[in-house]
Formats: sequence, C-alpha cells, structure tokens
Amino acid sequence: MEVVIQPDAAAIARLVADEVQSLLAARPDAVLGLATGSSPLAVYDELVRRYEAGVLSLARVRAFMLDEYVGLPDDHPERYRNVIEREFAGRVDLPAGAVQGPDGNAEDLPAACAAYEAAIAAAGGVDLQLLGIGSDGHIAFNEPGSSLASRTRIKTLTSQTRRDNARFFDGDVEAVPRHCLTQGLATIMSARHLVLVATGAGKAEAVHHLVEGPVSAMWPATIMQHHPRATVLVDDAAASRLQ
Ligand code: F6R
Repeated sequence: MEVVIQPDAAAIARLVADEVQSLLAARPDAVLGLATGSSPLAVYDELVRRYEAGVLSLARVRAFMLDEYVGLPDDHPERYRNVIEREFAGRVDLPAGAVQGPDGNAEDLPAACAAYEAAIAAAGGVDLQLLGIGSDGHIAFNEPGSSLASRTRIKTLTSQTRRDNARFFDGDVEAVPRHCLTQGLATIMSARHLVLVATGAGKAEAVHHLVEGPVSAMWPATIMQHHPRATVLVDDAAASRLQ
C-alpha cells in the first residue's frame, strides 16, 4: 500500500486527477468506480476543470457507484445517483446511462445486488476505484464487522454513520435511511487500482488503523493492505496519528 501525504485536499485532488488522466490516456473506455460523500468532491472538481480545459474526456467511460441508500424517493437530492449526477457526471461528458449504481428502490433487493455484481463483471471490472473512509473505518458502507469476503448486499447503517451523514439531511439523524445496498469488501478488492482519499483530523484514527493496524473486519478498510495496488492519499491532519 502506498501512502501519500499532502498539505491539503486540493493537492490530493491534483494527484488523483493525474492518475485518472493517465488511465484514460491509455484506455479511453476505462471503468471508473465512484464514491459519494465529501472526500472525493475536490477530485471531481479537478476532473471537471480538466474536462472544461479540454485535456480530459469521459465520453467512453463507464462508471459504477459504491453504494446507495435504501428507500429514498427517486428525486431525493441525497439519493446517491442524484448526488453523483450533480457533483460529477452531469458536469462532464459522461454519456447518459454510463453511471450505474445498486438499485436501492428495487422490489427485490437481493436480486438487485446480484444484478449489480453481474453488471460490474460484464463491464470487465473496475479499473480505478475511488474511495473515502468513514471515521469508524468503513469503506463503501461496509461497517465494522463486515465480512472481508462480502459482495454487494443489504446492510444496516451504524448509528455512528447515520450521525456522520446527518449533515447531508439538514442535521436530522432520523431522516438518514437505516439501510443501504453496498458493494462488499471483496467486490471492492476486485478493482485493479484502489485510490482512497482522507482529509481532516476526524479521519486520523481510521487512517492509523488502515495503514498500521492488523487486517481486521472491525476496521474494514484494512483489507486494502492485501491489495496489490492501493494508494492512500491523506492530508497532514488525517496523517497525524501515523507513526
Ligand atoms: C460513500 C461511501 C462512504 C464514504 C465515507 C466517508 O459512497 O462509500 O464510505 O466514503 O462514509 O464519507 P465522507 O467522505 O463524507 O467523509
């Protein structure tokens, strides 16, 4: 695992955008894995800047999201499909339908999870997976205790994550859904390059476990230590508990 410490989110975003840009130069029809939450926002802004400057095109890219809440109305602004459209896909030349996510409103949720795994496999797998990390060490919505061999499935969000995410729901924890569909840890590990971004002191403990702790389902991101190509980009605050 490569750990890169940078002064701030903007510097991290430039490095991640460089990775995406060189991937797309070599493979314009690459498959990207997209995360929601605040961590990747600076990366999306940097990619949009490069698209607008004409140095980057995503016209042939396909993308898969990590996760989705269960039961939010289709037009809810915090539904992850809508978030990714607003923050990224709708600001670049990704064609309509190029971004897929697990269907959190499907009548048969387990079937939707299986269909999602099949769709990722049919696309040839993810080339570069962007990740954030939760303060409790989750990646996607694989909360502590998640099986290290898990695939896309229904999960219950912990009260910690619901509290963390209440800021996107006008501070109302009760408005945060209790369930989600999420890629499993084994699904994420199948991507060819994992790129995790973490900023701020609130992530310092999780980053410490991710980089220096033993691999454990209690800190799910630690599975990344077994990945042959994992890059962790952190700012000084998120790196503050590293030895
Ligand atoms: C979102 C996701 C989550 C977030 C994590 C960190 O798709 O998969 O694992 O990456 O909760 O959230 P932020 O970036 O908002 O601190």
